[in-house]
Amino acid sequence: MKILQTTEELINYRKTLKQDTGFVPTMGALHQGHISLIKTSISNNQNTIVSIFVNPTQFLEGEDFTTYPNRYQADLKICELAGVDALFIPNIDDIYFKNEPSIIAPMKQSYILEGERRPKHFDGVLQVVLKLLNLTKATNAYFGKKDAQQLFLIQNMVKTLFIDTNIVPCEIIRDENGLALSSRNTYLSDAEKQKALNISKSLKIASKEMIKGELNVEVIKEKMSEILSELQIEYIEITNRKFEKIEKIILKDSIVLVAAKVGTTRLIDNMWV
Ligand code: PAJ
Repeated sequence: MKILQTTEELINYRKTLKQDTGFVPTMGALHQGHISLIKTSISNNQNTIVSIFVNPTQFLEGEDFTTYPNRYQADLKICELAGVDALFIPNIDDIYFKNEPSIIAPMKQSYILEGERRPKHFDGVLQVVLKLLNLTKATNAYFGKKDAQQLFLIQNMVKTLFIDTNIVPCEIIRDENGLALSSRNTYLSDAEKQKALNISKSLKIASKEMIKGELNVEVIKEKMSEILSELQIEYIEITNRKFEKIEKIILKDSIVLVAAKVGTTRLIDNMWV
């Protein structure tokens, strides 16, 4: 596996590639969620590039940028064992410049849900993803449905800025108890992990209600909030897949989204219905 530390090394490496390139952007502290993206890329492309870059512009003041888990040695081994061809680990100064155009995510979909709680977060995400897609010129890039709003905004950017990369959505990977895997789960104590299970339980309750025929958004949200009462709920929302408000669930075109804090750790999860 090649370790590429600068944009120049990445550009030179990419020029040697003749066939399909798959790309998996990450912020490291890799878990089975990331690994599933990596494996999908490896089985569908001739070459796979993974990046690890904790992107400063997507963190807000007071968030965990400086304490974000760093597991570089373990991540390196994971990528090597999975069969990744190249690992890109740039420094901040390689990626960002003093004077550069800014990317602003569309207000309508980036200042609701995650974006309402984390203003400008998606501007930073799009800014870095645009740079990474331009650098890798990937044929396919893999993103988790876990970050549904991020995925949607990236798909929208790729479409509207005519970026020549196919965005591949990947399923949410959970632990054996249903907790959606996240690098931030490492912040949770055992007791907090137990409490956090209520997040995926609330999604299961929503699913059961829908199977019974209940499609009223407010009724389902109410049922979900009962089980989430021990957590600090940031939002429980059900939207269509363009992240627009709906009153009645349209099956195969809706998403149930939850964000809640367990202690000081903020977790998100969702279910595509
Ligand atoms: P990060 O949180 O490291 O996630 C990298 C990718 O892994 C994202 O596409 C995310 O949706 C996916 N992922 C995380 N947990 C997952 C799970 N349990 N199941 C499936 N996929 C999962 O998302 C980011 O980094 C950054 O915002 C990034 C896109 C790299 C830009 O900085």
